[in-house]
Amino acid sequence: MRSRLGLVLLAAALAGGCSQPSSDPLAERGRQVYLAQCTQCHNADPAQDGAVGPAVKGASRELLEARILRGSYPPGYKPKRPTNVMPPQPAVAPEIPALAAYLK
Ligand code: HEC
Repeated sequence: MRSRLGLVLLAAALAGGCSQPSSDPLAERGRQVYLAQCTQCHNADPAQDGAVGPAVKGASRELLEARILRGSYPPGYKPKRPTNVMPPQPAVAPEIPALAAYLK
């Protein structure tokens, strides 16, 4: 019975869309951080462009670190926008693994 429950949870995790509450606690935390810190500019659905910021679904941990900590991009990364509007948010640094788990 236990292994069957595990399978059900795994299936639910795989089937869960990114804007849905996730059964992965890290990704769920990332979703909450995203909704609290990022959606004044980015869309609540990270796959869509927001009022100010572009779609960020699929953002790598490297890209998140560069943007959030330094307001820069990883070497060789081609930004979706040529602007430099997004302020660095160093206070969000501890949440980068959660954000990466949510957005991947
Ligand atoms: C004040 C508005 C604002 C806030 C808040 C904001 N962003 Fe942004 N973000 C932008 C804008 C605008 C861009 C496009 C580049 C630029 O102008 O800085 C961007 C670009 C990005 C990119 C790079 C997209 C690409 O592939 O080129 C990522 C990743 C990103 N934001 C993630 C986040 C995350 C995660 C948060 C929350 C912790 C966040 N942003 C908060 C406005 C914002």
